[in-house]
Amino acid sequence: MAAVISASQLSKYFGDVKAVDEVSLDVEEGSLFGLLGPNGSGKTTMIRVLTGQVKPTAGRASVLGIDVVAHPVKVRENIGIIPEQETPPSFLTAEEYLAFVGKVRKIAGVKEKADWWFEFLEFSEKRDVLCKDLSRGTRQKLMFAQAFLHHPPLALIDEPLINFDPVMQKTVKEYLKEYVRDGGTIFISTHILEIAEEICSDVAIIHHGRLVHTGPVTAILSRQRHLADFFLDAVGKGSHA
Ligand SMILES: Nc1ncnc2c1ncn2[C@@H]1O[C@H](COP(=O)(O)OP(=O)(O)OP(=O)(O)O)[C@@H](O)[C@H]1O
Ligand SMILES: [Mg+2]
Repeated sequence: MAAVISASQLSKYFGDVKAVDEVSLDVEEGSLFGLLGPNGSGKTTMIRVLTGQVKPTAGRASVLGIDVVAHPVKVRENIGIIPEQETPPSFLTAEEYLAFVGKVRKIAGVKEKADWWFEFLEFSEKRDVLCKDLSRGTRQKLMFAQAFLHHPPLALIDEPLINFDPVMQKTVKEYLKEYVRDGGTIFISTHILEIAEEICSDVAIIHHGRLVHTGPVTAILSRQRHLADFFLDAVGKGSHA
């Protein structure tokens, strides 16, 4: 299996803060890869570096075989992203936003694709509402739709499930599982360890910017009852730590 994400000794420092500190990892094609770590451990920074939004201080990374420093725009053209903070532009309606994304990404049949997403994530009645007037969860549905509208081979999604109700979490979990069954690759950061345990094939744990674990979820679960116990031990907060 080919690595669709490959990071080598990747670092990003903000002054004295080592947000990402010499992280090396490979993400294989077809995996649902979870990036776990406490608040401020470097997950969002890692995703921003891998998506070419910030330059690393040191090290190298390639995404779909494209160097993220040399060709950041090309990387972003070829992947889907749900950033942690970004919300859709307040002055567009939900439908206008997806049409805009379709235009930028040169997606054919964007109207039908947008219709499918409105229906699938159950927010058709919000299509003509300005993004600024959408609820937080509905804005997140829209961010989800924009990331997958062009059916990218790889999507990097930063805590995409936190604002969803349990019904929507189930819908999205099933979607992600099917996405990787169909050959796509997902790189997801999340604090919801039950979800990571349920859907991820592999996980990495970072702590203070350092990679403290990477490997298949099955290997963890064969030793420990739950991913949460393993996570707490890995970051020095568990009963075995
Ligand atoms: N633009 C920035 N300027 C300065 N420091 C930053 C910047 N972005 C992130 N940091 C710092 O880098 C560290 C890692 O932050 P990051 O947002 O990557 O963590 P995270 O793991 O995503 O946290 P959370 O779980 O809270 O989302 C933190 O100490 C943060 O304050
Ligand atoms: Mg974050």
